[in-house]
Amino acid sequence: MTKITIAIDGFSSTGKSTIAKQLADWLDYIYVDTGAMYRAVALFAMQQGFISKNGVDSLALINALGGVVLHFQKNEDTGAAEVFLNNVNVEKQIRTLEVSAQVSPVAAISAVRSKLVDQQQKLGQGKGVVMDGRDIGTVVFPDAELKIFLDASATTRAERRYKELTQGGDAVSFDDVLANVMERDHIDSTREDSPLAKANDAIAIDNSEMNLEDQFHIILQLAKDRIAGRV
Ligand code: DC
Repeated sequence: MTKITIAIDGFSSTGKSTIAKQLADWLDYIYVDTGAMYRAVALFAMQQGFISKNGVDSLALINALGGVVLHFQKNEDTGAAEVFLNNVNVEKQIRTLEVSAQVSPVAAISAVRSKLVDQQQKLGQGKGVVMDGRDIGTVVFPDAELKIFLDASATTRAERRYKELTQGGDAVSFDDVLANVMERDHIDSTREDSPLAKANDAIAIDNSEMNLEDQFHIILQLAKDRIAGRV
């Protein structure tokens, strides 16, 4: 069967990775969480002391980028792909609110973006890939056969993220989570290099009032139509 490229972009905590994983499982495609890659670079910058209250020392990070090696590896128990930074599994560490608070300025650095975009394009070069992020349909795979742009109200998104973090045992406040979601959206959509934007040919879906099952069926149908060449 023809394999296609599926790009899922959108604001933070809109459920991009959930739908991307569902599609990849159903279609037996590779799933790539590009946000995890930016988060791992932010974690690296924190570990190296490149982030202070004055912000990110971009120059130091750029000079050290050659020492950042990222790869994904499947967790045999959960079946999920997990991200490794220099051969260390950092999947849990990169999901904390501390990393969330630092990642957007790191993701705004062009040298970081070009390194990661290059790796993402290699991961998806054989097609049969579902990739989620902010610039997949606009920059990484502008020729993707199916592009989805997800949105939901900021409160709905913060509620989802808050639930995820507290269920995972993190003691965070809802207000901090909401502030982080809004701040990241602002930085991600106003940065100079590849800002978060809907590609002209992307299909916009607001899932504030949609349950996961309905969303999956709608998007899966779109994917099947593209694979069959019906649209
Ligand atoms: O999807 P996420 O919340 O895990 O992404 C973390 C951050 O990485 C997000 O604030 C913006 C950035 N990002 C990006 O700039 N480009 C991507 N393709 C994916 C994520």
